[in-house]
Amino acid sequence: MYDFRIAAADKPALYRELAQWLESLVAGEPDPIANMANAAALIWESLPDLNWAGFYRNLSGELVLGPFQGLPACIRMTFDQGVCGAAAKTRQVQCVEDVHKFSGHIACDSASNSEIVVPLIRDGELIGVLDIDSPKFARFTEEDEAGVVKLGEILSKVL
Ligand code: SME
Repeated sequence: MYDFRIAAADKPALYRELAQWLESLVAGEPDPIANMANAAALIWESLPDLNWAGFYRNLSGELVLGPFQGLPACIRMTFDQGVCGAAAKTRQVQCVEDVHKFSGHIACDSASNSEIVVPLIRDGELIGVLDIDSPKFARFTEEDEAGVVKLGEILSKVL
């Protein structure tokens, strides 16, 4: 039904197109699970070198697994656990070049070597986090961070 194949010259162009796809996918849809599911699939299909892409929702102060693509993952994390917990606790993007050097990293998939986690905040409330993992070390650059943050801004409005 949709063809997401994006042929972009560089990362900023890739993320611009990805953001447009995401905007159109979530437009007019109020259900957060449906929007997270489509966002995870879109990211998974569009970004190279990933082994996991998905969401953890903030349910009463605990991070609970949401829609994702990749291997089955750890279901619950506190804000003191993992890279996701650090993003939730600090409300800052966590861009980790080597997850094995990150104290408290939770290895759901042994293939993961780097990851980026973006906190999703609306009206001052933490809705959850967007977590993207890669088997490549230092997969996520500043350009990726800017692009994924933009995706997070689009999503925060519709979750
Ligand atoms: N790597 C994460 C755990 C979740 S999975 O990788 C899907 C973390 O330490 O936050």
